[in-house]
Amino acid sequence: MEPLPAVTRAPLGIFDSGVGGLSVLRAMRKLLPYQSILYLADQAHVPYGARTQEEVRAFAEEITRFLLRQGACLIVVACNAASAAALYHLRASFPGVPFVGMEPAVKPAASITRTGVVGVLATPVTFQGTLYASVIDRFARGITVLEDTCPGLVREIEAGHLTGGETRAILERALKPMLARGVDTIVMGCTHYPFVIPLIQEVVGSDVQVIDPAPAVARQAARLLQANGLLTDTPPAGELHFFTTAPAQPLIGILPSLLEEEYPVQVTEWQYGKLP
Ligand code: DGL
Repeated sequence: MEPLPAVTRAPLGIFDSGVGGLSVLRAMRKLLPYQSILYLADQAHVPYGARTQEEVRAFAEEITRFLLRQGACLIVVACNAASAAALYHLRASFPGVPFVGMEPAVKPAASITRTGVVGVLATPVTFQGTLYASVIDRFARGITVLEDTCPGLVREIEAGHLTGGETRAILERALKPMLARGVDTIVMGCTHYPFVIPLIQEVVGSDVQVIDPAPAVARQAARLLQANGLLTDTPPAGELHFFTTAPAQPLIGILPSLLEEEYPVQVTEWQYGKLP
């Protein structure tokens, strides 16, 4: 693969199994408009949620190497599943690299719930990890946490189905039983799900709060960039480069509806477990 044209100022690298991490990129862009960003969607392997921790860890490690080779100065693991499976491992394997990871936002949910019943929507690999267990242990004392994996929802969002149809049916199956048990706060524990918050809000009503962790993740990235002398806070606007490990057309097609702009996409293919 041809190397990228020089990115003038240190970009940060963001990755996810697919388009989910764009919900984080969107928040990052709002907060840090001058920072260049490299985004990799591992769409050859989406969804991560039903894979083993070992598989997801191997993908995350190789994608990190790829982003570092492209010049990334900080890595945002914009994926709860990859954070659950790989964040400790990545920090240990790349000791000089700052990482920002994700964990389901149970802490803020526990502080705002009035009914004491919180719902978490995330994929199986996120619920199985020790990271989630530790979040529950630290922050969920005295509250009831209801969990749902929303089977099929990541695929619907990858296909751009953000309203109605099967997407609504999946959400109703997950959320109606939670409502019946008094849930008043719902945590987006998968970065794909914020793209269907309008639909979630339609299903649960406006009295239920929905927490998208992306702005908090963006603030954490900004703090780390600043602390490491890597923050770009002057014009011109940062450059955005998109990569996918699958054919480019589906991602090119969906970017305008998720980010409100068109962008080119570069394909980088897996070969025997490695990226070029
Ligand atoms: N967007 C991801 C997450 O935050 C992964 C979803 C998937 O590929 O299953 O968990």
